[in-house]
Amino acid sequence: MSDPIPLLAADTLPVGESAEAVAAGQVFAVYNVDGEFRVIDGICPHAGGPLGKGMLNAGVVTCPWHGWQFDVESGQHCLNETICQQTYAVEIIDGQVCIQLPE
Ligand code: FES
Repeated sequence: MSDPIPLLAADTLPVGESAEAVAAGQVFAVYNVDGEFRVIDGICPHAGGPLGKGMLNAGVVTCPWHGWQFDVESGQHCLNETICQQTYAVEIIDGQVCIQLPE
């Protein structure tokens, strides 16, 4: 496993909010779902929209550009089962939301 990559301070992302984070040359979308942090690839596969700037509702994010929706825990597109965003394991280390990149 890679070293954990810090994305943002956990206390800066309130429950129900989304954020975009750039680290290791990639864009990530970070969500606080009822106190549990979720991280997915932040680039929408439709046309590159910023999923970290989307509205979060009941664990589903809506892309701000054209409305594609994804479950932020599984990464699954809500209407098209063939589309699934990369998800990342999350741990909180010293107050930071951290992920590990897949090998
Ligand atoms: S870019 Fe996300 S729905 Fe079009």
